[in-house]
Amino acid sequence: MAGIEVTALHKRYPDGTVAVDHVDLSIGDGELFVMLGPSGCGKTTTLRAIAGLERQTTGDIRIGDTLVNDLPPAERDIAMVFQFYALYPHLRTRDNLAFPLRAEGLPKSEVHKRVEEAARLMRLGPLMDRRPRRLSGGEQQRVALARALVRRPRAFLMDEPLTNLDAELRADMRTEIKHLQGQLGTTMVYVTHDQVEAMSLGHRIAILNKGRVEQIGTPLEVYDRPASLFCAEFIGSPPMNLIEVEVVDGKLHSKGGLVLTPPPGLPRDRSLVAGVRPEALEVTEPGAEGSVPARVVSAEGLGDEVIYVVDHGGQRDVRVRMPPTVRFATDASVGLRHSGGTPAVYDVHTEDLVA
Ligand SMILES: Nc1ncnc2c1ncn2[C@@H]1O[C@H](COP(=O)(O)OP(=O)(O)OP(=O)(O)O)[C@@H](O)[C@H]1O
Ligand SMILES: [Mg+2]
Repeated sequence: MAGIEVTALHKRYPDGTVAVDHVDLSIGDGELFVMLGPSGCGKTTTLRAIAGLERQTTGDIRIGDTLVNDLPPAERDIAMVFQFYALYPHLRTRDNLAFPLRAEGLPKSEVHKRVEEAARLMRLGPLMDRRPRRLSGGEQQRVALARALVRRPRAFLMDEPLTNLDAELRADMRTEIKHLQGQLGTTMVYVTHDQVEAMSLGHRIAILNKGRVEQIGTPLEVYDRPASLFCAEFIGSPPMNLIEVEVVDGKLHSKGGLVLTPPPGLPRDRSLVAGVRPEALEVTEPGAEGSVPARVVSAEGLGDEVIYVVDHGGQRDVRVRMPPTVRFATDASVGLRHSGGTPAVYDVHTEDLVA
């Protein structure tokens, strides 16, 4: 097993597209590291460079203690699972698993042992003698994962492996992958554009935007203190509210009269917005203690919660997460209250977290 060090990785395609722009990643041995970002931000390119399927323009990649820049994929000792898993259609599960091992020339007994072990881990028992077309999407995906497992690589690289599965199966597989990675302790780099997947899987998450790393942190860190407006709008569903504020006597005042207590170290003379999560706000009866006037724009009941969109001081898109029992109709005059916690504060011009 091994950690992965990516240093100043830069990839410029021949047509001039900069897909990866000086990315640094330090992935720990045994870590489940997620790369998250919107389509086109450079996730796949980064992963393919680590795998050796794409040559970087500049920068270094180390797997364990080995500088792998000039090593072909087969010598990097990693296993990759893609969104579109290519199983051999004419081979039964058992032989799909054994194929890469036979290709490596491992003795028969060793091949058998490893195939049986991977089958046990991925619970493939009843599926071992079926061909891919007789397997469901999720089962095929488990076979593809098992085929990566049997090689016992130093690291797994996964590129949106669950995208083609339905929501329920995806949630199951997510649990399975997380459990498996924990059991094996093998370093894993997992690429997704799905923030829920990133939050639930990753020990740490790197958020990428236009080829650059915007933030690296634990799920809690990136949720509580997004490093930039981009991260604030990308993480969380619905995302953080970004409320224009002015500083008066050391407090943050919104146009609609909300008063928030900022974290220490607030910069002076800058245009600021406060990032407030929907669950840090409350919709109340009008005039309730500590509330300011607001109006309900819409209320979306989701069964376990209600998401209110309220107009607050002319900002018509403030989102509030409430328990399902509280009901205010569209257009109702209500109160809006900050229910606690410290907002994240951003500079409007640099778009960076400043406090
Ligand atoms: N062979 C190529 N030639 C030129 N540009 C490319 C090539 N491959 C990818 N790109 C560009 O590089 C950028 C990054 O692409 P990449 O596939 O790494 O994104 P991604 O984050 O994996 O996106 P997605 O979530 O859609 O898979 C994009 O702008 C893409 O158009
Ligand atoms: Mg991709």
